[in-house]
Amino acid sequence: MPTITFVDPHGIEHDVEGDVGQSLMTVAVNHDIPGIEGECGGEMACGTCHVYVADTAGCVPPPRTTDEAEMLEVLIDGVKPTSRLGCQIRVGPELDGLSVTVPSE
Ligand code: FES
Repeated sequence: MPTITFVDPHGIEHDVEGDVGQSLMTVAVNHDIPGIEGECGGEMACGTCHVYVADTAGCVPPPRTTDEAEMLEVLIDGVKPTSRLGCQIRVGPELDGLSVTVPSE
């Protein structure tokens, strides 16, 4: 199973394994990662799965869809180029070693 590193709002790293096909949000919620709530269940309606994706060589998720980009602008103050909705990133073998940071807001 791919290992994903979540850096929580306190700067603590959590290395967790996710099942292929799960969203990053689901992986985080299943492992009680602080700061990830997933309130809308992955419907792109809450923004409580916001993460910053690290520029980790070889571990780059597919780019945002137009819908995700639009919802980031609606839901998140101060969207950064690395901002993603965790519910829209599916775990796959290519993401083994991915690191994401959970914002403190
Ligand atoms: S879980 Fe609500 S927007 Fe991702």
